Amino acid sequence: MGSDAQATMAEHYIHGFSEAERQRLMAQARMLATPVFGGLDLSGDRSLLEVGCAVGAELQLIAQRAPHLTLTGVDLSSMHLRAGQAWLAGREQIRLLQGDARALPFPDDSFDVGMTIWVLEHLADPEAVVRELLRVVKPTGRIILTEVDNHTFGFDPPQPAISAWWDAFNRCQAEVGGGDPCVGAKLRGIAASLGAEVLAETPRLVISSADTSRERTEQLRYLRELLASGAERMLAAGYATTAMQQAMAAGFDTVRADADIAFRYGAVRLVCRKPQPAGADDPALSLPR
Ligand SMILES: C[S@@+](CC[C@H](N)C(=O)[O-])C[C@H]1O[C@@H](n2cnc3c(N)ncnc32)[C@H](O)[C@@H]1O
Repeated sequence: MGSDAQATMAEHYIHGFSEAERQRLMAQARMLATPVFGGLDLSGDRSLLEVGCAVGAELQLIAQRAPHLTLTGVDLSSMHLRAGQAWLAGREQIRLLQGDARALPFPDDSFDVGMTIWVLEHLADPEAVVRELLRVVKPTGRIILTEVDNHTFGFDPPQPAISAWWDAFNRCQAEVGGGDPCVGAKLRGIAASLGAEVLAETPRLVISSADTSRERTEQLRYLRELLASGAERMLAAGYATTAMQQAMAAGFDTVRADADIAFRYGAVRLVCRKPQPAGADDPALSLPR
């Protein structure tokens, strides 16, 4: 399948495909499980597709929360999928397939739920992915998009060295990868442009120093690893220097040592469904609480 598309993505994708990145994705899924899945009711669904599933970290968490579901993951990266298949071997509830989110290898009306989590930010044409998700979910189904809005990331008081790195990270992602790191704020407009019916739009604070349910040091470690995950691509493409990288790391040391420095990072979850025929409604549709 699409080896050209895979090669292009592999060359430009900000996070890369290293073993460290695979570990980061697993830790990220655990760290952000509550903001990503909190309030979602999947009890009335039978099949779920996650597009851009990488190593299956989210699917494994969904399987734990909703063991009745049949889960399908699609990703363009054969490297991530191989790692996911090895890790998830023997889990018959989950299947992983290689495919392009912009041309999904499924017939119309195949799934109850279609999902993306931290994927649309990497694509120049997120509309193409949402269009495909709308095509492959059933008329009674829904799509759930959970995507970052990188404008929301920040510290109080400001941390200039971290911000300088973050600005470079976002420019690199947009200019080299062709994505939109603030796509979370645009989900409603994308869905509306495709005629989808928006059922819920929820800002999700994925990281916050005010959240006492999670360790401050763990949240900061997550943020630091997220920012560091762009280093190879940023340095190679001239968006950052090793001096900036060191200053960013020192900035995180400062924040860790001072409990009065606040931080936050937000995302948006949009739930929508296919355009419905006039007058049609399904009382069994399961909406997020
Ligand atoms: C940040 S990862 C998110 C992985 C997963 N959703 C999670 O939360 O752990 C983004 C994933 O999107 C995949 N991806 C990027 N462009 C894609 C495309 N056109 N089709 C399918 N997958 C794609 C990448 O290979 C990568 O695995």
